[in-house]
Amino acid sequence: MTIAVTTPTGHVGSRVVRLLLQAGVRPRVLVRDPARLDAATRERVDVRRGDLTDAAFVREATAGARTVFWVDPTPPSAEDPIETSERTASGIVEAARAGDVARVVLLSSVGAEKRHGAGHIDALARIEEQLDATGADTLHLRCAYFFTNLLMDLDDLARGVLTTAFTPDMPMPWVDPRDIGDVVAARLLNDAWKGRTVQAVHGPEDLTFEQVARTLTEVLARPIQLKPVGDDDVRAALRSAGLSPSAVDGIVGMTAGTRDLIPEQPRDLVTTTPTTLAAWAYVHLRPAMAA
Ligand SMILES: NC(=O)c1ccc[n+]([C@@H]2O[C@H](COP(=O)([O-])OP(=O)(O)OC[C@H]3O[C@@H](n4cnc5c(N)ncnc54)[C@H](OP(=O)(O)O)[C@@H]3O)[C@@H](O)[C@H]2O)c1
Repeated sequence: MTIAVTTPTGHVGSRVVRLLLQAGVRPRVLVRDPARLDAATRERVDVRRGDLTDAAFVREATAGARTVFWVDPTPPSAEDPIETSERTASGIVEAARAGDVARVVLLSSVGAEKRHGAGHIDALARIEEQLDATGADTLHLRCAYFFTNLLMDLDDLARGVLTTAFTPDMPMPWVDPRDIGDVVAARLLNDAWKGRTVQAVHGPEDLTFEQVARTLTEVLARPIQLKPVGDDDVRAALRSAGLSPSAVDGIVGMTAGTRDLIPEQPRDLVTTTPTTLAAWAYVHLRPAMAA
């Protein structure tokens, strides 16, 4: 029962690998630089070295794996992010279509249910559809907004500012990627599910950005002021940072397209995961700010 894991050095993938090792499984990992795995992990996994944008590599490296955990590695800042994400997934789609892979767990996103109109998330929707058409068993994990996105705001937070284009008082699900890893590993280890499944990973509670600013104020022990901005402000900032028009549309579209979204999969026993923003921020954000 070979399990192949992509992005084993990422927030989610690294947790998945750790849990598989603890379950007594030796996973196959697709990694572009094995030196980025710690030595203890490296000696317990089967390494396939290559770039996920190389469809021939993905096809060859996943062949014969019963289950693959697929993470789209495309950065939202890519020249044409939607096209790049789809092209990058072509190797795993082809492997599933050919029957070389029996089951695929996809790291998808809240908003993919819209299919169109959610910026770069539209690419995950298309990958869901393409995998579903292969005949393989598929599980799409529609994940909430990652706590780790805050790590991209360290400079602003150091100035006491949290900038957002989301509606300040609109609750939305937030999640610790490590908790997503727990769900992924459990699903990879369960050999019983079949067909097409969609499951959300919503974190412990829906949060407004106003609540997030208050929590960060407490945990970081400094005032964090919420600074709401409009989509046009974000567009202008991304353009001046040199991003392509497609990348700008992809990033702005993710916020604009999910701003008022009620996720298709409701919060319940299965979709709720435990780690609170305060707990995550204390362990990860505080030291990152101090560094
Ligand atoms: N952020 C959100 O709020 C959110 C919400 C829902 C879904 N998602 C999805 O979550 C995924 C990101 O997960 P994450 O946060 O765990 O990732 P992450 O921590 O940002 O790490 C990115 C991973 O991708 C790998 N990678 C990047 N380009 C690669 C390439 N060309 N070939 C091989 N590997 C490559 C990196 O490997 P190296 O170590 O080599 O750099 C790293 O392991 C994305 O697909 C995103 O759509 C995100």
